[in-house]
Amino acid sequence: MGEGMAERYFPAKADMVAGIAPLRGRRRELAELEALVSRARGGRSGAVVVSGEAGVGKTALLDHLTARVAAHVRTERIVASQSEMELAYAGLHQLCGHMMGSAARLPAPQQEAIEVAFGLRSAAAPSPFLVGLALLGLLTEAAEERALLCVVDDAQWLDQASARALAFAARRLDAEGIALVLAMRQADPVFAGLPHRVVEGLGHEDACELLRLAVPGGLDLRVRDQLVAEARGNPLALRELPRALSPAQIAGGFTLTSSLPLESRIEQSLVVQLAPLSAQARLLLLLAAAEPTGDPGLLWRASAVLGLGPEAFDAAKDAEAFVVGTRVGFRHPLVRSAVYRAASPGDRRRVHAALADVTSAEHDPDRRAWHRASATLQPDEEVAADLEKSAVRARTRGGAA
Ligand SMILES: Nc1ncnc2c1ncn2[C@@H]1O[C@H](COP(=O)(O)OP(=O)(O)O)[C@@H](O)[C@H]1O
Ligand SMILES: [Mg+2]
Repeated sequence: MGEGMAERYFPAKADMVAGIAPLRGRRRELAELEALVSRARGGRSGAVVVSGEAGVGKTALLDHLTARVAAHVRTERIVASQSEMELAYAGLHQLCGHMMGSAARLPAPQQEAIEVAFGLRSAAAPSPFLVGLALLGLLTEAAEERALLCVVDDAQWLDQASARALAFAARRLDAEGIALVLAMRQADPVFAGLPHRVVEGLGHEDACELLRLAVPGGLDLRVRDQLVAEARGNPLALRELPRALSPAQIAGGFTLTSSLPLESRIEQSLVVQLAPLSAQARLLLLLAAAEPTGDPGLLWRASAVLGLGPEAFDAAKDAEAFVVGTRVGFRHPLVRSAVYRAASPGDRRRVHAALADVTSAEHDPDRRAWHRASATLQPDEEVAADLEKSAVRARTRGGAA
């Protein structure tokens, strides 16, 4: 199925998808990704690595892709989590833990390997080869009824074992009807050899338009040009950089003084925006930044330990720093890293100690050990013993690191 067919299957207006923010530009990127999905629907599998700096619009692109093809394919989408990088097969488990119903149809050695990888049975660390084959088998089963679109966002944070298994499966895709899209900040060598598309900044006209939307009152022309140059078409930068400017800077007299990389510039303006919040609200944000699972119950209990009340929650929400739903999420991963980086070491230890207090030693010993370690300044025998146990658990799941 060629790209012409993709046009016929999917609406041509790339920027109009109900319910999500409109996308500027990106027609070519969307067309390519949709063609990959069309080919999967026609029975030809394929994978692509989509890379680009933080804020350039990878997630937005994936949002639009999945929305546009939702009616035609089964979609499995995950976001790899930085907090689970050390946990072998955490990413794979997120992607296909719920597909284990069909594991019984895998050849026995593969079934055993993936069950060990997911901690469903204990045995020696499984062979990465068998886990890779098992993954391919599970995805193939999942693509049985209708073509399968697998999307892994923030794949730079996949644990190594999962990344290797996904790369292995991606290289062996053939006629299963699977489209696999892996988005990451920088192309990881583990995925070398797979087709690769770099997402670049938006063009000048789109950049100016996004800036116009970000600063409704309008900008001094010289300031606008400086911001456009500095943001290099990065939509997140175009939205966040002007927010940190003072009214005087917006009106002119703003000079380009920073030689920091763009990512740090964005983080810096996020920190400036959050600075006016109360100390309590900022501590709450730090708590959320230090608790990457986004479990609202945990956050709530830890905030009680720190004596933070509902005012702190309201203030943090009003600042649009994070969104509380079934999960607590930041409006962009850079908000999380900005909050964490800006905090004092003492505050970081306080929030990790509170999180360790409320994390179950029985159900989540690894994370508890990790929080305790982050809360500790001096080497501490008990903490070291916990971490050692956690390392043993990671090894039996097949994590080499
Ligand atoms: N093409 C685009 N047009 C308009 N806004 C965009 C575009 N791409 C991204 N954005 C917006 O910019 C911000 C950062 O984009 P995001 O997709 O989260 O970046 P990434 O995933 O690459 O870090 C989001 O608020 C997003 O809605
Ligand atoms: Mg993203």
